[in-house]
Amino acid sequence: MMDEGYIGIDVGTQGLKAVVINHEGRVLMTTFSEYPTSSPQSGWTEQDPGDWDKALKRALEQIAAEHLSVTYKGVGVTGQMHTTVVCDDNGNPLYPAILWSDQRTASYSKQLERKYGLDQLLEITGNQPLSNFSLLRLLWIRDHEPDCYRQIRHVAVAKDWVRFLLTGDWATDVTDASGTYLLDVKNRRWASDFMASLDIPATWWGQVVESSQIVGTMRYGPAEFHGLPVVAGAGDQEASAVGTGIAAGDLGISLGTSGVLFRPLDRYQLPPHPSIHAFCHAESDTWHWMSVTQSAALSLRWLRDSFFPEKSYAEMDTESLRVQSGADGLTFLPFLNGERAPIMKPLAQGGFLGISSRHGREHFARAVLEGVAYSLKHCYVTMDPNNTLDPHRIIMTGGGAKSSLWTQIFANVMNRDIVVADDPGAAVGAAWLARSGITGVKESMPVRQATVKRPITGDSEIYTQGFSRYERVVTQLLPLWDEDE
Ligand code: XUL
Repeated sequence: MMDEGYIGIDVGTQGLKAVVINHEGRVLMTTFSEYPTSSPQSGWTEQDPGDWDKALKRALEQIAAEHLSVTYKGVGVTGQMHTTVVCDDNGNPLYPAILWSDQRTASYSKQLERKYGLDQLLEITGNQPLSNFSLLRLLWIRDHEPDCYRQIRHVAVAKDWVRFLLTGDWATDVTDASGTYLLDVKNRRWASDFMASLDIPATWWGQVVESSQIVGTMRYGPAEFHGLPVVAGAGDQEASAVGTGIAAGDLGISLGTSGVLFRPLDRYQLPPHPSIHAFCHAESDTWHWMSVTQSAALSLRWLRDSFFPEKSYAEMDTESLRVQSGADGLTFLPFLNGERAPIMKPLAQGGFLGISSRHGREHFARAVLEGVAYSLKHCYVTMDPNNTLDPHRIIMTGGGAKSSLWTQIFANVMNRDIVVADDPGAAVGAAWLARSGITGVKESMPVRQATVKRPITGDSEIYTQGFSRYERVVTQLLPLWDEDE
């Protein structure tokens, strides 16, 4: 009998990835095509949804050309969260997609707080309004592009626009809806009164459903895929957690473009700090906390592109290894795209502190690895103020987790064992959600080919001091990055 095939599509920040998995979750093929991000003004990040369309077409054609011996059963989608596309009646974008990392809406958080009061906002959405959320992008378009705003008939998060291309249906799932700032996260439904008070028609967003629910059928790409059921899918963070097998009691650390702490919850709980999102998870009746540092692997890519253009990441690691732990007193602040957690300063700027004539570029390479680890530790201590979180396992994934040096630095900085898992990526999680929705079988994926990094005693002590310095420096700089109201 032919194996079952499920297609997963990830509308990522760097490019679109598509995978085919079989019923056991084994990856049978992967395709990836890059698209550009533009930054027309400082702090702005945009993409052309037309580029996603082209990449999607290419991916499906490549999958069809492979002639895998599977019977295709369905499709799941995932993608960058919060990234918002406003469309006309036919689904044509009216403005470039404003990315999750874009910081043009910095002043809108305070505006919302003044209008509604933080307590009421927390009551309605379960979250503090942060500049990344889709609602704030909509409000910015209302104020700065009124002609465009008047023509809006549909609004979608990245993967929901791509799913609209696939099926012609408008919908979102509870995880991406959580990141719009228009969801009543606790009750997993639109905050309709809040939406109405903002004059946002509920029809703009379409229905909100659970992530593995079937919402339409394929009518795009090669004919052999037409008619396949397509499930709602999930945000890339939730889909990654599904694909990696992060379970209740675990803590996930994803070291991708952004760096994310992910804590699954079996009931809704307000987080201990406003920088931590409390969102719906991709499985019914589960939620999660999430804390995001904006520039994790992005910091390393920036350093490579700017100062090590001829080097691979592995060669940069070799240079970093020439330097002792602590980078000889050089501290990196990874705020290249402002910062979300824990400091919530969209206008924060990156920096190197403590530069001396002793330092060569290898110190800068090491300081970047350490600074990102400090930032995620800063997120961790904020999530665990009373030392009660006690994760069963800390599971690390993402492109950055391929570096043995970087994962060791994390184990030392966190002073805990870190399980480094082979990362199947969000696309696999999306395909798995398709499998769950279509077969009705709800099973977790096993954690793949994990290795464990253990803290090294002397290094952990150096990093305890390094982190304390990092925390002091960041705290002192905070007033520099207050936003204009
Ligand atoms: C999550 C977030 C990012 C994007 C990146 O809240 O903003 O991790 O999802 O893809």
